[in-house]
Amino acid sequence: MAELAVRCAGVNLRNPFLLASGVWGESGESLAGAWSAGAGGVITKSIGSVPRPGYPNPTIEAYERWGLLNAMGLPNPGIDEYPREIEIARRAGATVIGSIFAGDPEEFARLAVRMAATGVVALELNLSCPHAEGFGTEVGGTPENVEKVVRAVTKAVTIPVIAKITPNTGDAAGLALAAQRGGASAVSAINTLRALAIDVHLRRPVLSHGLGGLSGPAIKPVGLACVWQIFEKVTIPVIGVGGIASAQDALEYVMAGARALEVGTQVTFDGIGVFGRLATDLSRLLDELGFARLEDAVGVAHRASSVPPE
Ligand SMILES: Cc1cc2nc3c(=O)[nH]c(=O)nc-3n(C[C@H](O)[C@H](O)[C@H](O)COP(=O)(O)O)c2cc1C
Repeated sequence: MAELAVRCAGVNLRNPFLLASGVWGESGESLAGAWSAGAGGVITKSIGSVPRPGYPNPTIEAYERWGLLNAMGLPNPGIDEYPREIEIARRAGATVIGSIFAGDPEEFARLAVRMAATGVVALELNLSCPHAEGFGTEVGGTPENVEKVVRAVTKAVTIPVIAKITPNTGDAAGLALAAQRGGASAVSAINTLRALAIDVHLRRPVLSHGLGGLSGPAIKPVGLACVWQIFEKVTIPVIGVGGIASAQDALEYVMAGARALEVGTQVTFDGIGVFGRLATDLSRLLDELGFARLEDAVGVAHRASSVPPE
């Protein structure tokens, strides 16, 4: 069977499939469960400096099996409470990446120090949530801000820093390049696409917050395009995320340039059993296509496209 273990952002992963931030609860038990089910690593819910209740319901709308629209409002227990959850996941042996969000570079740096102290192997900076006022895309929506935040965090901690990039500005590659300039060890792309649903009977948006973020299979082509463009601009590893539901989806991301992958919405559709299935299927698919190791397939679609047709 083809080798799925990869090294990405200075972290050894037993396979490339990471639990994406925020989609499978925030408890230590749920992170440990994803690890036991075969995830290559788990990313925590994005954690802030203080507890946040998030927005009132409704916060999620599901579209059969092709997408989810959400505006949760970054509910989380805050960094004072959260280390005990990380401890539960770490005791289960999980490779844990800590996701954080903050309103400015100084707050990011302070929070990063607290999160790093929990023993996570890397940090993922949420610079890309499309629906939380004062956070996410409002902080990470320009290259200048991305660079400032990443620089502040990389100065404050010694563990690898991953910048999670938004697709909503139209220039994910420019944001990724800024993250690299700031010292990021990797970038992950993409967070959700800004989106809206209207309830025609109630004559108002379906979600209490109005605008939300779209995830799931519907956004895979957008995620792939972002990873493709980012891979052409940066030298740090790219982590692909957005609509991965099958080994074929995963390999598309890898061939576009991703070295590791995050799976979110499909976990909510299929449960954590999806991790075992994806790993087995991807290893088999790589075998069929003649790749001995996942790493050999990273970015190959770029080389193929530069070969003139015969
Ligand atoms: C319900 C829900 C909650 C999410 N919460 C977070 C979060 O806290 N932090 C974050 O960086 N991304 C969050 N995301 C975005 C996902 O991590 C991921 O980037 C996005 O859903 C695309 O991947 P997918 O199509 O596999 O779900 C959330 C997504 C969903 C659907």
